Amino acid sequence: MTTIKFLKEDREVVVADGANLRLKAIENRIDIYTFVGKMTNCGGYGQCGTCIVEIVDGMENLSPPTETEKKKLKKKPATYRLACQTLVNGAVTVKTKPSAK
Ligand code: FES
Repeated sequence: MTTIKFLKEDREVVVADGANLRLKAIENRIDIYTFVGKMTNCGGYGQCGTCIVEIVDGMENLSPPTETEKKKLKKKPATYRLACQTLVNGAVTVKTKPSAK
């Protein structure tokens, strides 16, 4: 077991090792999508790029970026990940909707 801390929401959730970051956010009612993303998200297939999160701490505890993810995030900061492509293997701190104010 490990933890995901959602910074903006001030919530910490306990998850099993290898948990999918997007699914755990949804299960815990953490809102990872902006308004547009809610309407258009691809359902976790790495296609839409709307599930972007910023990893504030613990990047080393995540699964390495997938090929799809690397393409989607080419022009984004190295701290950004697609939640749906990210598996959590250790404690991590996450900022949702990093480009929203
Ligand atoms: S949900 Fe579409 S890329 Fe993650």
